[in-house]
Amino acid sequence: MKESHELVFFVNGRKIVEKNVDPELTLLTYLRRTLGLTGTKLGCGEGGCGSCTVMVSKYNRLEKKIMHITVNACLAPLCSLHRTAVTTVEGIGSSTTQLHPVQERIAKSHGSQCGFCTPGIVMSVYTLLRNNPDPTMAEIEDTLQGNLCRCTGYRAILEGLSTFAKPSKCCVQSGKQTGCCKEQFAANHLGPSNCCGQEGTENGCCKGQFGANPPGMSPRLFEPSAFKPLDPTQEPIFPPELLLPQKSPQDTLVFKGERVTWIQPTTLKELLVLKGRHPEARLVVGNTEVGIEMRMKNMLYPIILAPAHIPEMNFSCHNDTGILFGAACTLSYIGSVLKQAVDQLPSYKTEVFKAILEQLRWFAGQQVRNVAAVGGNIMTASPISDLNPVFMASGCLLTLSSEGCKRIVRMDQDFFTGYRKTMVKPQEILLSIEIPYTKKGEYFSAYKQAQRRDDDIAIVNCGMRVAFKEGTDIVEELGLSYGGMAVNTVFAKQTCKQLLGKKWNRSMLQEACSLLADELTLSPSAPGGMVQFRRTLTLSFFFKFYLTVLQKLGQDFKNDFQVEAIPPDYLSATELFHKDQPSAVQLFQEVPPGECPTDVVGQPLAHLSSIQQATGEAIYCDDLPRFENELYLALVTSTEAHAKISSIDASEALKVAGVTCFLTAKDVPGSNQTGPIFMDETVFADGVVTCVGHVIGAIVADTEAHAQTAARAVNITYEKLKPIITIEEAITHKSFHMPEKKIENGNIDLGFAQSDDIIEGEMYIGGQEHFYLETQCTVAIPRGEDGEMEIFVSTQNPTQIQTFVALALGVPANRVVCRVKRIGGGFGGKETRSSLLSTVVAVAAHKTKRPVRCSLKRDEDMLVTGGRNPFLGRYKVGFQKNGKIVALDLKLYCNAGNSLDISSAVMSRALFHMDNAYKIPNARVISYVCKTNLTSNTAFRGFGAPQAMLIAECWMSDIVAKCGLPSEQVQRLNLYQEGDTTYTNQKLEAVNITKCWDECLENSSFHNRRKAVDDFNRQHRWKKRGLAIIPTKFGISFNATFLNQAGALVHIYTDGSVLLTHGGVEMGQGLHTKMVQTASKALGIPVSQIHISETSTNTVPNTSPTAASVSSDLNGMAILNACQTLLERLEPFKVANPKGTWKDWISAAYMDRVSLSAAGFYRTPDLNYDWDKNEGRAYNYYSYGVACSEVEIDCLTGDHKNLRTDIVMDVGSSLNPAVDIGQVEGGFMQGLGYFTLEELRYSPGGVLYTRGPGAYKIPSAGDIPAQLNVSLLRESPNRKAIYSSKAVGEPPLFLAASVFFAIKDAIGTARAAAGKTGRFCLNSPATPERIRTACIDELIGMCPPAEPGTFTPWNIEV
Ligand SMILES: Cc1cc2nc3c(=O)[nH]c(=O)nc-3n(C[C@H](O)[C@H](O)[C@H](O)COP(=O)(O)OP(=O)(O)OC[C@H]3O[C@@H](n4cnc5c(N)ncnc54)[C@H](O)[C@@H]3O)c2cc1C
Ligand code: FES
Ligand code: FES
Repeated sequence: MKESHELVFFVNGRKIVEKNVDPELTLLTYLRRTLGLTGTKLGCGEGGCGSCTVMVSKYNRLEKKIMHITVNACLAPLCSLHRTAVTTVEGIGSSTTQLHPVQERIAKSHGSQCGFCTPGIVMSVYTLLRNNPDPTMAEIEDTLQGNLCRCTGYRAILEGLSTFAKPSKCCVQSGKQTGCCKEQFAANHLGPSNCCGQEGTENGCCKGQFGANPPGMSPRLFEPSAFKPLDPTQEPIFPPELLLPQKSPQDTLVFKGERVTWIQPTTLKELLVLKGRHPEARLVVGNTEVGIEMRMKNMLYPIILAPAHIPEMNFSCHNDTGILFGAACTLSYIGSVLKQAVDQLPSYKTEVFKAILEQLRWFAGQQVRNVAAVGGNIMTASPISDLNPVFMASGCLLTLSSEGCKRIVRMDQDFFTGYRKTMVKPQEILLSIEIPYTKKGEYFSAYKQAQRRDDDIAIVNCGMRVAFKEGTDIVEELGLSYGGMAVNTVFAKQTCKQLLGKKWNRSMLQEACSLLADELTLSPSAPGGMVQFRRTLTLSFFFKFYLTVLQKLGQDFKNDFQVEAIPPDYLSATELFHKDQPSAVQLFQEVPPGECPTDVVGQPLAHLSSIQQATGEAIYCDDLPRFENELYLALVTSTEAHAKISSIDASEALKVAGVTCFLTAKDVPGSNQTGPIFMDETVFADGVVTCVGHVIGAIVADTEAHAQTAARAVNITYEKLKPIITIEEAITHKSFHMPEKKIENGNIDLGFAQSDDIIEGEMYIGGQEHFYLETQCTVAIPRGEDGEMEIFVSTQNPTQIQTFVALALGVPANRVVCRVKRIGGGFGGKETRSSLLSTVVAVAAHKTKRPVRCSLKRDEDMLVTGGRNPFLGRYKVGFQKNGKIVALDLKLYCNAGNSLDISSAVMSRALFHMDNAYKIPNARVISYVCKTNLTSNTAFRGFGAPQAMLIAECWMSDIVAKCGLPSEQVQRLNLYQEGDTTYTNQKLEAVNITKCWDECLENSSFHNRRKAVDDFNRQHRWKKRGLAIIPTKFGISFNATFLNQAGALVHIYTDGSVLLTHGGVEMGQGLHTKMVQTASKALGIPVSQIHISETSTNTVPNTSPTAASVSSDLNGMAILNACQTLLERLEPFKVANPKGTWKDWISAAYMDRVSLSAAGFYRTPDLNYDWDKNEGRAYNYYSYGVACSEVEIDCLTGDHKNLRTDIVMDVGSSLNPAVDIGQVEGGFMQGLGYFTLEELRYSPGGVLYTRGPGAYKIPSAGDIPAQLNVSLLRESPNRKAIYSSKAVGEPPLFLAASVFFAIKDAIGTARAAAGKTGRFCLNSPATPERIRTACIDELIGMCPPAEPGTFTPWNIEV
């Protein structure tokens, strides 16, 4: 074979020829590091977040057309891109030339907050529009399945993008006076997609409803009519060179790297010869398995064969028995062929095809489906493959080939021989797969249950086939295959055999379920956990299949034989999940036009960096160009939860090419002890490790790859010590970081004595990972003189970084400058934990005297930086018959992990929020901060309050259940009123909670919907709906009084432009935008004249972290203070020249030698809470809000659907309603993830299993409520904060508890249908497992859990 070593491809129209490409090099690393195209981001490195999305275009010679696909650049080997054209976000538009409409619309519709996800989202939608300039909204939503955003809550993104969508049915009124529904669709954003066509009739048109807003309230957050139209003719052309036939098409591409060789043969013969010669070689098409194995599981495959271009593996054709696909066909291609077949062939023939399409709908995101091959899915032999159960149950035929040999095998129970093993011989390859047609009287279904619906791997999945004896309902053939129930896909052989010849009726169902329960068992310690749930799912799926087949038999053979009737309320079990058309209304109070045209306070101004974010121009820490001589650092961390370090051997690591040094505790020149409150942490572990992930050392090398390879080669031995992992264990061993804290008010004993009823209970709430899209990152540059160090950090807390780095380096703080331009999300995770990395990097830079960089990999970030504290609440609550609370005795425990960090402050906030919004006359709450051997937990949006408030709503739901009264009645009865004092004896002023409550009840049509929900539930046995309304009250101020201060620095230059600096960090929350609006109003100049460059410790010193929701309040006032100083100085010049311009006054002041620079300062007044006396003001003021949510659960699988949420939020007089609504929705969605989806799973030994988007699921666009209405409370100015506004960052998060309690409401109805009434415990999050196991029924009864204590579970609640 003739070899070529030249890779030819295009990036943004530029031709690139690369020789000696390293096969381990990904497209993403190449774009970012070699080409400096940093617009494409690294969010996870495992194909799960989409921030690295680019468009890859290639010419398909067979179909003679150019194809554009989205690809995850983090998984795409650069070698795989021969003769393709790559387009990145920089290639489609820029702020300096012209914006692409996708960039413009996302930016201007407020779809970009921190902006880290934005380029990926832009490229996903751009690619869709290249293929289809007129997509439907559903297609836009599907295209975003593989893109995550942690900030926005997605609504704004979808709304901006909906302006590209065509309504699925047009009213055809275009050009007429009434206007076309298309325009209306765009104008109403996510509004009606199908116009009702009732315009002018008595009922009125649906369009009208969207226009009927309360007076003074506006739904217009942006103006779609101002958007530049999409013009497909303006797109960059496909490089003509790639349309030409290759000059030497027979050349085999070969690339040799340090560890791996990539061979891309051009013929099947050559491939088979190579496979015979290298039986251990991997065949790589999509690299979505191999890439993960090599990067995340440290596996090494020295030879890679790339068969993507071999014609015999890339085709499809129909034959007599089915459709044949080459094994290298991508899943997207298979989906399109099967869809066409389903549309064209008789329905009975395509039962298997429809099932595959249903599985593909929820299979990864489009970026993965576009490259992943069917052969890869089969040959990986994953126990949770989504396709293998379907292929096995349907008996697909597989053609296997080796040199000179070909054989066809059926995929049956013998195909998979063990964990990730098949009967395929090492020298064989999978050539093709035939997916069979079905015949009349044959039925097929596939089911999958995952933690999240979109883009998630299955917990259990299955394929089910039955064929009946002609003209009967007697089973002739049966195939039941399951994934997730063993180490490989399994065939329920015994069950299938026993059921042959049986009639398809209830007794067969009964028998099938007991057979399956016996056959598909799992050890109680089975990897993956959820044992009872998984076993129950096998029966639930069969039950659904049974009903579906009955239904189909009834339809197909109603005249031929008697088919068992299905009770009408059972039909709900057969419905597949369908998405509802999204709709949303966002309302805010319009500000009347002011006297000053430059006054934009109150206007929905777009985030000032949104254009830079959408074009990829916005610079994040790791986007800084590499410095001369720069080195890269990789952490070496503990694999034990608690142990003495016996030895550390870095000798092998130091042999790795490019390694400079290995650092440990002895390399710290200053203090190795560190910590924000107690000095109970180490820069590097010294002798003892106290959690898995404890930083022991660090490797410094020339490249990231070398540093990481070497870090893995460091050998550490341990002497294990007994760890404490859970809250329960900490309680048993009295392992606490600090003494208990107590707040007591009223007379608790008397309160209980006066109560009509008393309930005791407890609730556990799991932790939460921040999952900011930008992981922790630091670049440290030693300045070479006087111990100076400049450090760029992705942090919310530059001052702490400065302090801790100075401490570790043993220099005064004045030698360290910490600089932050922006961060890609923080949510509390970068408040104190950033210093964990930055001190290590600074020590490395100090030691090597060279710049050092480290951006944590997603799995490292999740392992070492901690998250939200898990909580346990134990309560006793006394109340009257009408539900009025009389007394509460509460114990709160939080799992703080191995160091205190700021968990004491988190607990303080929990102590102050355990009432949620309810008046408790007699209260006692005692808190315990548990010390365990987990990674230290930390701040997270809400800071302990959401946990305490969820426990409050838990005892409230118990009261409601016990009283038997409507929940909303009991809740309202207990709400705080104006003038009430809290149990911390703070008098409440301007209490807006009942206003929000009543408005939310009305906006949501609560009472009518309650009736509708009840009706629905009567008619459906296996789907239940639930409805809940939940209030929140959130105290605004840092609990640590000294932090309630801020500084600002305002420079006016002689051209009149203003450079604004303040102590807050821009992390997507729009702080800089609000601060510029504030300064603009204060100075009376346009926003365009004001710029914020960065936050740095050498401009504004001693800053508080950007946290506690108070950054606008504090920094806004400090800015106002500085501006007032400047205005005072300018006043004489204004008086002297009243008709002059801003620039005139500035010039005059300068010429008169007046300082045009002023510092501002602010401290929140009257904060004086006294813990000993339990009195004084703990908070400056409170923010209020109420949400009402409706959900639908699937009682058989635990799945749920968010149908609708209405929110009323009090943000005072909003500084910027677009930013505030973005915070409300983003906070709400983060809460929705917290309460229903996101589950951190730990081994009993304290190892975190969930370390990336593959295992840990944050909400995706598919999770937002189908209808999401947000209204900012009218007429509620707040005299306590800047321009009458209110803080908004954290308060809305808890409103997502309305979804949790709506789920609980639905479960309650399901339990009642099974004859079980009364209160029950539902811990958080309400995952499918918890929902299903709470919906008790016969099926779950057939899968009893093992006796606790008789086995070691795979995972535990911590
Ligand atoms: C973010 C993400 C989400 C995912 N979601 C899902 C999901 O929802 N459901 C699911 O089932 N899977 C999922 N996967 C797993 C994966 O995408 C699929 O298994 C995919 O089909 C693998 O195809 P590939 O071409 O990328 O495989 P590659 O990584 O290229 O190869 C995988 C393996 O198959 C072998 N192989 C490939 N082709 C052949 C052949 N013709 N003959 C012999 N051996 C061969 C290779 O040697 C290699 O060992 C996901 C993966 C990622 C990264
Ligand atoms: S970085 Fe590629 S998908 Fe997350
Ligand atoms: S804006 Fe999407 S992750 Fe921040």
